[in-house]
Amino acid sequence: MSESRVSAVLVLAAGEGTRMKSRVPKVVHPLCGRSMLGHALAVAGELDPERLVVVVGHGRDQVSAEAAGQAPDALIVVQDQQLGTGHAVRMVTEALGVFQGTVVVTYGDMPLLRGQTLRELVDVHSGSGNAVTVLTARGNPAGYGRIVRDADGSFLRIVEERDATPAELAIDEYNSGCYAFDGVLLADVIKRVTTDNTQQQEYLTDVVQILRGDGHPIGTVLAADVTEIAGVNDRVQLAAARRALNDRILEHWMRAGVTIIDPASTWVDVTVTIGQDAEIGPQTQLTGATAIGAGARIGPGCLLEDTVVGEDAVLLHAVCRQAEIGAGATVGPYAFLRPGTLIGQDAHIGCHVELKNAHVGVGAKVPHLTYVGDANIGTGANIGAGTIFANYDGVAKNHTDVGEHAFVGSNSVLVAPVAVGDGAYTAAGSVIAEDVAPGDLGIARGRQHNSQGWVERNRVGTRSAEAAKRVRSE
Ligand code: UD1
Ligand code: CA
Repeated sequence: MSESRVSAVLVLAAGEGTRMKSRVPKVVHPLCGRSMLGHALAVAGELDPERLVVVVGHGRDQVSAEAAGQAPDALIVVQDQQLGTGHAVRMVTEALGVFQGTVVVTYGDMPLLRGQTLRELVDVHSGSGNAVTVLTARGNPAGYGRIVRDADGSFLRIVEERDATPAELAIDEYNSGCYAFDGVLLADVIKRVTTDNTQQQEYLTDVVQILRGDGHPIGTVLAADVTEIAGVNDRVQLAAARRALNDRILEHWMRAGVTIIDPASTWVDVTVTIGQDAEIGPQTQLTGATAIGAGARIGPGCLLEDTVVGEDAVLLHAVCRQAEIGAGATVGPYAFLRPGTLIGQDAHIGCHVELKNAHVGVGAKVPHLTYVGDANIGTGANIGAGTIFANYDGVAKNHTDVGEHAFVGSNSVLVAPVAVGDGAYTAAGSVIAEDVAPGDLGIARGRQHNSQGWVERNRVGTRSAEAAKRVRSE
């Protein structure tokens, strides 16, 4: 039974989330590389359901766009007015009809829920023949609906906190808001839910009691880890959820053989991968599609977005966006690698160097105080301190080529489009606006002229003049 495919997962995400105090709908707020809704959809996707449905209402344009971005196959159902969780599910059955088989309901604001937990819920449900199986938790039940049982412990119904008696309020088992339903029965009973409660809403929780009244078996699964059940309602809870999810991600990588020096100041998105024996230093954030090779050392102080780092590379105080760094390369301290930067194997990028759309060849060096934009630097080339690749003429971006084993003198300006050939040199301080052929030396600077005795003649009585005079009289 447990292999039977889930026919639908319904993700409820129509609520307003007023406590976020945000222009952005609550479920679109991000943590650890995905929006809350993105996490919900990823977890739902792990069940491989035939249909994935998102119920949207408040901020529906933004929420629908987010859903489409994260799960292009998801079906969107609009709940115009938020008349309760039961009403939300009724809107789905009215729009899409009856689902045969198991229907899972979950929320868009539970980013800590694990796919494995939903899988267990589904497995218990399909193995039991229940009409509904409710995921419950035990702990501080404040704010949650309580699981009401009779004297011998069988599950009777769910009562909302607002509607509970003092005795019911004392129950420490509570409703997570996640359920596995028999789809056919759900479509039938959802029509019979009333608004007879303090909030005058259609409660999905009432379905439990109705199904039981009809003589159907109902059941619960107790969540092993209650932190998974926590919903996010404000930015304080969002920060707590982010911290918890980050801890989980870091633990995963440490157990996979990654050294993390300071987990408290290290942030890694769910989408990142890290190779064995890599070492992540303090104050480091790895985001998006970043992939760190085995044995690489990242940090302290690195921010990497969508960046691929080769094996054994070393990055220190670097900001890298959509860059690729070859095996054994060294970057930083204080380097800025912008999109399209490709650093070859064993190359070195040093202090206060910025690169954009630049390919740096194997073993090449850009060690100090340099801007490289729209350029190719050949294998083994050396770019002297303070070199500027002047790629922008005020209208267009132009390309620069520096050949293999070329040597660009310190404080050169390479005015693009321009090429410095293989094995060519440029003299320090040159403004190179014309190509330098392979093996040539390009010099483009004013010739030096020394005016003899100028200081003694023109700066009479100064310490400089006295110093010069002393040397002359020796
Ligand atoms: C609900 C449960 C409660 C459970 C708790 C767990 C009901 C009646 N109560 O309470 O037993 O302990 O969740 O967190 O179901 N939503 C819609 N449309 C609506 C109303 C809500 O899409 O009309 C969505 C919200 O966006 C949210 C989720 O459903 O993602 C839960 O809604 P919320 O109002 O927060 O339910 P609770 O009162 O917390
Ligand atoms: Ca809630």
